[in-house]
Order: sequence, then structure tokens, then C-alpha cells
Amino acid sequence: MNAHGTRSPLADADWQYLEKIPLEELSRQDWLVLEQQRALYLARHQADQALRLLSASQNDPCFGYQVNNYRHCLQSATMVLRDGLPEEDVVVALLHDVGFIACPLLHGDFAASLLGAYVSDRNHWMLRHHATFQNLHSPNMPGVDQHERERWRGNPYFDWTAEFVARYDQAAADPAYPCEPIETFVPMVRAIFSRPPVDRRSIKKEIP
Ligand SMILES: [Fe+2]
Ligand SMILES: [Fe+2]
Repeated sequence: MNAHGTRSPLADADWQYLEKIPLEELSRQDWLVLEQQRALYLARHQADQALRLLSASQNDPCFGYQVNNYRHCLQSATMVLRDGLPEEDVVVALLHDVGFIACPLLHGDFAASLLGAYVSDRNHWMLRHHATFQNLHSPNMPGVDQHERERWRGNPYFDWTAEFVARYDQAAADPAYPCEPIETFVPMVRAIFSRPPVDRRSIKKEIP
């Protein structure tokens, strides 16, 4: 029971609660049950949780651009979709700025962490670095080195990152653009999150 005397509801009526609270008291059997339920829970809820991170900002005001961050993301994804790029690129466009307000300086790393286990090296790298590539399109922004991206010239993902920012990011803030509704992208996001995850953690668990 929590401080209010009620447990959160289980996602599935057939699942079990842990009867102990400190992790150090859990038995191996407790962990086996928990991991089994966790895997099913993620399969059912992870993609929708990621989508809700974006949808939560649907009606937010903006700070000067003509559209809010939600509309920017929708326009970016719609443009990628209409250009016929792969489903993964559409999903990456949809979520590339999902952390733009909550985690502004590292919002590229935020998106790379969110999607990194499910997308190619090409898109993982693009997500991490797209904000620096944006500098090229912001020549009059105070304190910005327009050519900072040149440090990565020759990187195999340089051209894709430059293309994404030029075509699908820096101009994707047009209130007149006919965006697809979020529902268009839901099955695509679910498909990407259903891929077997790649472990990109820098420090990995060593399982004997
Ligand atoms: Fe961004
Ligand atoms: Fe963006």
C-alpha cells in the first residue's frame, strides 16, 4: 500500500503485485515474475507512452515561432512521409524534438536516447547532432557558430543529417502546411518500438 493506502491498478488482472517493497528483499522468483510482466507491459505500452510525451504538448502555446513544437514535429514527419522516405525516418522526424521544451540544450540526446535502441546508427547519430547542424540555417542567431557542423565533415551520417535539417526541420514551422494527424503515425511508431532493441548503453551489464 502507498501513503494513501491504495495500490496502483495492475495493467493486467492476471498479473501479480510484489508483496515486498525494498528491492533487496525480492527473491529470484519475484524478479522472474516482474521481468515477465515488465516485458509484456513494455510491448503494450512503450510506444504509446512515447507518443504521449509528444501529444502532451498538443495545445501548448508557442514562444515566437508561428507553430508550437507539436505542430513542428507533425509537419516534419508529414514532409518525410510525403517524400516517400522509410517508416523509420518518419518516426524519427515525428519525435526528433520531443524533448525540445523539457530538455532544450540536450534535446537531440533526449530523442537519441528515446529511439536509439530501435533505429539505425544513421538516425541515432542524426538525432544526437541535428541541433548543431541547424546552426547553418541560423546565420544571424547570436552566439552561434554557423559552421560548427564542419567538425564532423566526412562522417558517414553527415549528409543525411544535413539533408534532414535542411529539408525537414528548419522550415517545418508553417501554420498553413496541411499536416497529417497524429493518428497517421501511431502504427508507424508502434512498429518501430516493436523491433528487437539494440543495447546502446556505454556501460553494459555483464551477465555471468
Ligand atoms: Fe531540434
Ligand atoms: Fe526540429
